[in-house]
Amino acid sequence: MSAADEAPLRVEPHSIYPLVEGIVKEKIPIFSLQKLKLELRAQDEIAKSASAQLDRKEFERVLSNVLDNSAEASYQGLSVLVGVSVEGSDIKIEIKDQGQGIPKSILNQIGKVQVSSKSDVSKTGSGSGIGLFHAVQTIEKLNGRFSIESKVGIGTKVTIHLPLSK
Ligand SMILES: Nc1ncnc2c1ncn2[C@@H]1O[C@H](COP(=O)(O)OP(=O)(O)OP(=O)(O)O)[C@@H](O)[C@H]1O
Ligand SMILES: [Mg+2]
Repeated sequence: MSAADEAPLRVEPHSIYPLVEGIVKEKIPIFSLQKLKLELRAQDEIAKSASAQLDRKEFERVLSNVLDNSAEASYQGLSVLVGVSVEGSDIKIEIKDQGQGIPKSILNQIGKVQVSSKSDVSKTGSGSGIGLFHAVQTIEKLNGRFSIESKVGIGTKVTIHLPLSK
């Protein structure tokens, strides 16, 4: 099992954009298979070279889960946009989809308990609702913030803030 609080994080400074780019590249085949576009943008050169203190494996897992959620909620032909920017003393990573959106009943519980709208929990382990629970716990342990805005029928935006490392 993989609750974020089981093992201590291995926190080191990492350049964020290349990490995000690596995960995005890894996901492109899955997105293509579903006829979805996945785009990555950096606000500017400063955003491209910004670093934050994080545990690489756990951060990659967070991003991977968030992108999987967006792919699962999206319809053919739609796009998912990933943006990296610097905002004050934070680096901001935004993942925006145009998918089905999250009902309020689920949205209110995200990060507090494991919650899932998927029913096939049994065999694959997918749909355990651990994805966002882990994401919130991990980002908060890194002194960052994880937030979700979502509207049913419009889409979902996940925003991750992490303090810039100097
Ligand atoms: N981008 C999104 N669009 C629509 N619904 C979403 C999105 N992200 C999350 N959700 C909703 O939030 C629920 C919880 O997400 P979470 O990633 O924690 O669990 P899961 O995807 O159901 O299971 P797991 O990630 O453990 O396989 C999902 O079941 C889904 O209903
Ligand atoms: Mg998930």
